[in-house]
Amino acid sequence: MDKLKIIGGNKLYGDVAVSGAKNAALPILIASILTDEKLEIENVPELKDILTTSVLLRHLGVDVRLYKNSCTLDASQVAITEAPYELVKTMRASILVLGPLLARFGKAVVSLPGGCSIGARPVDLHIKALEKMGAKINIHNGYIEASLKHLPNNKLQGCKIFMDQVSVTGTENIMMAATLASGTTYIENAAREPEVEDLGKLLISMGASIKGLGTDLIQIDGVEKLFGAKHSVMFDRIEAGTYMAAVVVTGGEITLKGVNPSQLESVIEKIKDAGVDVSCKNNEITILKNNNKINPVNIRTGVYPSFPTDMQAQFMAINILAQGSSEVTETIFENRFMHVQELVRMGASIDVKGNTAFVKGVNCLEGASVMATDLRASASLVIAGLAAKGETIIERIYHLDRGYERIEEKLNALGAKVERIH
Ligand code: UD1
Repeated sequence: MDKLKIIGGNKLYGDVAVSGAKNAALPILIASILTDEKLEIENVPELKDILTTSVLLRHLGVDVRLYKNSCTLDASQVAITEAPYELVKTMRASILVLGPLLARFGKAVVSLPGGCSIGARPVDLHIKALEKMGAKINIHNGYIEASLKHLPNNKLQGCKIFMDQVSVTGTENIMMAATLASGTTYIENAAREPEVEDLGKLLISMGASIKGLGTDLIQIDGVEKLFGAKHSVMFDRIEAGTYMAAVVVTGGEITLKGVNPSQLESVIEKIKDAGVDVSCKNNEITILKNNNKINPVNIRTGVYPSFPTDMQAQFMAINILAQGSSEVTETIFENRFMHVQELVRMGASIDVKGNTAFVKGVNCLEGASVMATDLRASASLVIAGLAAKGETIIERIYHLDRGYERIEEKLNALGAKVERIH
């Protein structure tokens, strides 16, 4: 298993080309199931989760061609409507095939997902919504078995769906399913995350009728058929935020290219509170840190546009080096403090009570051998390693490879010392 070796202490300078968003690319590739025509997708990040998605889609019969950051998908020959456990277990987002398979083929069998170990993360909202749209669903031997055989024309029926909890992939699954349903579907308490909007834009260019993207009420008028389309995936908000957090602890000046600052407001505000200069142009954000003082920042995660849970661990890595105390409260996932123990091994002072971590800033961290436990936890260890004295070895970086494109290459180009050990 690959490891990362980081020699800390270098300031970061230069430009970072921010990659396409993993969390937008995954549903976008999966949306190919909805049509028998070709999709051409650009700005697809080269990541493990993208490869996992292409393996899953190929298993179903989709012709997926990945070349660097481009992908073409042709689902005209889909022969299988079952997603087995072996393919679904490593990536929770695989549940996204359920809605599209059901909408186009009237049946689907999808394994209950695995993915990051950051909490129970059930898929009950996805299932409840599809049942409300008329699907017959049984859970059997760890599989979700869904069918529309009993419905007119094998079609889902548009209806009003209230999501008890805001769910990103839940909203995406239902939105995709509803594009081919008969009648109108309303998703109330829908996720407003930009990645949901990006998927919605692709679906519209495929011929779907969707209103209210970016709001908590999305209206989808079902259509008979969807068509081929071209789309470029939006930038990765979390990757951008991770590089910003890195500069806060190392010092230096970096410019993030290819971003939309208005979609990062909650993160930018907190980064500024930590004591750095941030300036935004159209598609660029520059972060300048030219002193040693880091202010502690209280964080409370929430659904978009609040502070993203996917940036919580990286801000913990800022707070552990701040001059003072802070509180980090996680409201989305119940088990998302697994990075804490590893950061403590590097010298951090953190006390977790319930869903809040109480952090006392320390003057410096020391390099250590630490273990990545989930995707964003890994990112916090990288940030801590960049600031620590001496050598940090991060084990199990396959978590990192799920979501950060060429991270060591990008960091080294900024002046960091990061090496992948095979
Ligand atoms: C997505 C993101 C993930 C991010 C998360 C929250 C993708 C591929 N992943 O995950 O990076 O951390 O949003 O922004 O886009 N819940 C239920 N029942 C359900 C569905 C969700 O109880 O059926 C709960 C979850 O356990 C969690 C909360 O709702 O507590 C939000 O989860 P959700 O938005 O669904 O997360 P994902 O879509 O899995």
